Amino acid sequence: MAEGAIDPQDLGERLVGAGADEVERAAEAALRPKKLDDFVGQRVVRDQLSLVLQASMARETAPDHVLLSGPPGLGKTTLAMIIAAELGTSLRVTSGPAIQHAGDLAAVLSSLEEGEVLFIDEIHRLARPAEELLYVAMEDFRVDVVVGKGAGASAIPLTLPPFTVVGATTRSGLLPAPLRDRFGFTGHLDFYEAAELERVILRSAGLLGVEIRHEAAHEIAGRSRGTPRIANRLLRRVRDWAQVRGDGVLDLRAARAALEVYEVDPIGLDRLDRAVLAALCRRFGGGPVGLTTLAMTVGEESDTVETVAEPYLVREGLVARTPRGRVATAAAWEHLGLEPPAGTWAAPASASGEGTGATSRTLFDEV
Ligand SMILES: Nc1ncnc2c1ncn2[C@@H]1O[C@H](COP(=O)(O)OP(=O)(O)OP(=O)(O)O)[C@@H](O)[C@H]1O
Ligand SMILES: [Mg+2]
Repeated sequence: MAEGAIDPQDLGERLVGAGADEVERAAEAALRPKKLDDFVGQRVVRDQLSLVLQASMARETAPDHVLLSGPPGLGKTTLAMIIAAELGTSLRVTSGPAIQHAGDLAAVLSSLEEGEVLFIDEIHRLARPAEELLYVAMEDFRVDVVVGKGAGASAIPLTLPPFTVVGATTRSGLLPAPLRDRFGFTGHLDFYEAAELERVILRSAGLLGVEIRHEAAHEIAGRSRGTPRIANRLLRRVRDWAQVRGDGVLDLRAARAALEVYEVDPIGLDRLDRAVLAALCRRFGGGPVGLTTLAMTVGEESDTVETVAEPYLVREGLVARTPRGRVATAAAWEHLGLEPPAGTWAAPASASGEGTGATSRTLFDEV
């Protein structure tokens, strides 16, 4: 294969992944809603946030610091941008991994202007010294700037103008309590309903200037794993199909044919997901089977199976994690078109509480 070409195998695997690379993030920028009213779904978070913003504008003060948590691709960065836009202020963007030293953060903080929003993505990855500096800055609007080096160094306290930190994290459980406590408002984003994703898709199609039928939007929404990022990505692939092999209109036929080409099945499973289910049911009679054995059977690293395939399979109630290993539920057998053997786990919701100590959401957060 030519250098730089995309291996279709890889594409097939990544198509329903919730993460995004640089190229995709650029494509996403054009589809981001810019106002709270255009942000689809997440009604509770939207309502709460709207109150926080309106009240602070009425008081003419910077709003409380805001923490946004939830799995990748659900709209945390989008909301951070909306917050700044609604406040009519500018957004300064940084991230936990970008801040290597406390000094880097001090430099960012000391250059903030009154009322600005500082967005810290992946805030759970801040180094400890930077985190401690942030506590003080968030609470007392003060930062100690160190001048000089070694024995002659001294810290000069610098008062900061009021500003708002918006932190985003896919793993809120990893945030130390003192940091979490400094956010006046925490919004937890949850997976979207299919009807909401349908609206995301129709809106994006409008922005991309393509004609789409409601049935096609419905079909794509059902395969998008509750995630707007995946919905937008599948929409772009269906558009490609419609332009190359269809008549340019995104109808049900185009949606189904395109998603078949990319091996995304009617409930959003890709090749790896289905390989895991097939191995569990066909090779191991439904389990329980250990993660390592299961991964070896499908020819993948345990890590890949655990972080890429499993969270969604567990969330959809197709697989359950038990102390003795992974188990296929009746729904998994049925999805493969097989008859579940007698005694197959029917309700993963009741089963998963026992012994595993994890709900599907915390599993996903661990990714
Ligand atoms: N509620 C929504 N309405 C419309 N589009 C949305 C919504 N939420 C997310 N999107 C779209 O999904 C894409 C991904 O959203 P975003 O980048 O905000 O996710 P994220 O939560 O920051 O993900 P990550 O954890 O990977 O940083 C964007 O293109 C955005 O426009
Ligand atoms: Mg983001």
